[in-house]
Amino acid sequence: MAASSAQQAESDYFSNEPPPKDLQANVTLAREFISRHNDEGRRIVLVTSGGTTVPLETHTVRYIDNFSAGTRGATSAEYFLQHGYAVIFLHRQFSLLPYSRHYSHNTRSFLDYMREENGRVVVDERQSADMLEVLRQYTQVKNQGRLLILSFVTITEYLWDLREVAQLMRPLGPRAMFYLAAAVSDFFVPRDRMVEHKIQSNEEFHQTEGGDGANARAPAARTDGRKLVIDLEPVPKFLQQLVDGWAPEGMIVSFKLETDPSILVRKAQYSLNKYSHTLVIGNLLLTRKWEVVFVSALEGEKWIRVPQHRRTKSFSGVASLVGSADQSSKDDEPESLLEIGTVPRGEPAVEIESLIIPEIEQMHTKYIEKIQAKAKPS
Ligand code: PMT
Repeated sequence: MAASSAQQAESDYFSNEPPPKDLQANVTLAREFISRHNDEGRRIVLVTSGGTTVPLETHTVRYIDNFSAGTRGATSAEYFLQHGYAVIFLHRQFSLLPYSRHYSHNTRSFLDYMREENGRVVVDERQSADMLEVLRQYTQVKNQGRLLILSFVTITEYLWDLREVAQLMRPLGPRAMFYLAAAVSDFFVPRDRMVEHKIQSNEEFHQTEGGDGANARAPAARTDGRKLVIDLEPVPKFLQQLVDGWAPEGMIVSFKLETDPSILVRKAQYSLNKYSHTLVIGNLLLTRKWEVVFVSALEGEKWIRVPQHRRTKSFSGVASLVGSADQSSKDDEPESLLEIGTVPRGEPAVEIESLIIPEIEQMHTKYIEKIQAKAKPS
């Protein structure tokens, strides 16, 4: 899309779609966070995580969603923090959070990690060492004020937050990084095509909403006889605006999710060529925990894989910070679950993010050097 039409699409989108109620509160928190870490010369990464919803009604009862549980984002945020970054974690409300993710499995309640002893609640001794490690890391990050958690639910809330935070990060120049792991809707219901009230399935109660006469646009989600018909419109490609306008000096890492292995690298390459940002990380729905492909102008195509014997699925324990915390009931991988204690001590499963983040940190160092060298007078 040409720059002017991308700008037009952005301007149309933000003038039609109202900002979230907590936008100003988020901006205030982000401004203080960014300014403090900028003064200390620290790198800041904005990690986006989880799926965006597409509401079908203004008073939302029904919406379209996607599978993302926020594992990639929450896990990556922890490794960025381990590597000294300040992290703004912009996540889908109720998706996984850094650190607490180790205890939010759908098959296991956090209460299972505790027991009663003499009328007091104590952590089960089999969990104690691991939980202490997680707690120490969490407390250190909290005391240092290096993690800011913001949330969204809908695609529109996500885009407003992303735009505002990205613009606030501009003074960081190349020390800003955008790690876009959220699964973002490609289609949505524009506000002026959204019905106000719950769509009625009973034909006796069908609504006749339609706005102001001849200019009224047909509702995007409506009943037709006994059918529900949904006619969505494209969400503007915000990556273009992020690269060109909102954060032109920041390092941008986007993800490309596919289900067909034969097109993954091509699609990642296409995205890199189209937006000219730093890195596209390609991943497949079924293998995303074990392998990803980096596609960048600097290094071409590079696969990162967890070695076969270090892979595990849905490990519900916390054998140090590297136990896979996959949890989603929506997850459709066929392997069987490993229960607590089945991964031998000293041979914990490796989370692929523990391999991804050091690579990205190195790329970021090179990126900063390149931008600074360009800025130096010759
Ligand atoms: O949360 P998990 O369960 O761990 O899953 C992690 C993940 C698979 C969701 C994550 O690793 C991932 O791949 N996230 C990106 C998913 C996605 O939105 O892919 P896409 O191919 O639809 O989009 C590709 C790129 O286009 C994205 O980087 C996005 O920034 C951009 N995009 C998307 C929509 C839109 N309206 N405008 C855009 O610019």
